[in-house]
Amino acid sequence: MARKRAAVLISGRGSNMTALAAAADDPAYPAEIALVVSNRSDAAGLAVARARGIATAVVDHAGHGKDRAAFERTLQSVLERHAIEIVCLAGFMRLLTPYFVGLWDGRMLNVHPALLPAFKGLDTHERALAAGVRIHGATVHFVVPEMDSGPIVIQAAVPVLDDDTPDSLAARVIKAEHRIYPLALQWLAQGRLHRVGGRCLVDGVAGAETMLIHPQAGSGEK
Ligand code: GAR
Repeated sequence: MARKRAAVLISGRGSNMTALAAAADDPAYPAEIALVVSNRSDAAGLAVARARGIATAVVDHAGHGKDRAAFERTLQSVLERHAIEIVCLAGFMRLLTPYFVGLWDGRMLNVHPALLPAFKGLDTHERALAAGVRIHGATVHFVVPEMDSGPIVIQAAVPVLDDDTPDSLAARVIKAEHRIYPLALQWLAQGRLHRVGGRCLVDGVAGAETMLIHPQAGSGEK
């Protein structure tokens, strides 16, 4: 079967984009990263994509002033020119309007550095530490008009350690993002994701009753 043509939208260093591109290096992976788009010409991830031989485009929101619709029309025309079938947001720091989200309904994913629906928005690691949660993580979800919402495809949980800083926690969470995003894109490209109400079910995945308990009881404790 032909591989699905995916675009990754970035605003910064693009480490999730790199994880998706690395997964797609395997010819058996069901999607190819056909395009990387940034809304910032100085996004470090653009050079990484170019070095991998991936087509890149800059759709500069500043050039469109406050006109979100014009920005999105330009973005859409770039995606169409490259015959894109799936859009992956990966650290893309622009809110998208319901118009654009509607065009990509069921075909656009986002990765968020928290266990949604906890800690939507920015500064998730600072807020997780401030809230005192013992378990934090990452989420890949379908994009809907409401920010950081939409059916959850996959989540990964990581422990919050006593000596964590926002940076050390971010470093643990980003590894989780890199694990789960390629899986989510794979499943979407294979047509294995089904949205049922607010949930997303995945064909052919094993359920596991493994618990992540943190902190763990010391030896001798029940
Ligand atoms: C990632 O942690 C991603 O989850 C986050 O930005 C980072 C981008 O890193 N996205 C958001 O906060 C969106 N709300 P990357 O450019 O190295 O992939």
